[in-house]
Amino acid sequence: MTERRLARGEKLVVASHNAGKLAEIAALLAPFGIEAVGAPALGLPEPDETGATFAENATIKALAAARAAELPALADDSGFSVAALNGAPGVHTADWARLPDGTRDYGVAMALTRARIGEPEDEVAWFTCCLALAWPDGQVETFEGRVDGTWTWPPRGSQGFGYDPMFVPEGHVETFGEMDPETKHAISHRARAFAKLGDRLG
Ligand code: IMP
Repeated sequence: MTERRLARGEKLVVASHNAGKLAEIAALLAPFGIEAVGAPALGLPEPDETGATFAENATIKALAAARAAELPALADDSGFSVAALNGAPGVHTADWARLPDGTRDYGVAMALTRARIGEPEDEVAWFTCCLALAWPDGQVETFEGRVDGTWTWPPRGSQGFGYDPMFVPEGHVETFGEMDPETKHAISHRARAFAKLGDRLG
């Protein structure tokens, strides 16, 4: 497969409808001089995430956006995993936050995760991020990053998004929800996936 690059000033669709992710991805793309446009701004629909892995779901989202917008597209599929739950919620992380009216509440999702862990309390947890970079002709490449740590209860902090308040990355005492964004961006699963993607940008 030919390695394709995206040059400074080129437009890239960010295939996400999650405001927290869009903000983090825009910040991570900024140093490369890429013009990021969110899928909601282009009125792109959200495809069903029917894959069994982060890579499959990221590929589905990136390809759908690249074909619909006729532009290169970047998708992020990510999730929170708990060792005591054999890696769940994993690819179902967003589903655990879904309320009956279709909205999402991550306070509910974190409480559900804590309730399912029960006892004994194996504290190992991690976040995974898979980025897919797709082109309108169907070429796709994926890049995966992971950050290991522990889950904590009760949740702490109001920075970040999603499950950030219940995750303490290895070597730190603050949760992702307590850290300033720059500290999270330096070590997160998303930053690690971006470090690999960086070879194709700018
Ligand atoms: P999806 O990739 O859109 O299927 O959803 C990813 C899910 O993982 C969302 O529910 C997010 O809240 C959660 N998630 C992904 N990355 C992070 C993160 O950096 N912090 C907190 N939660 C995250």
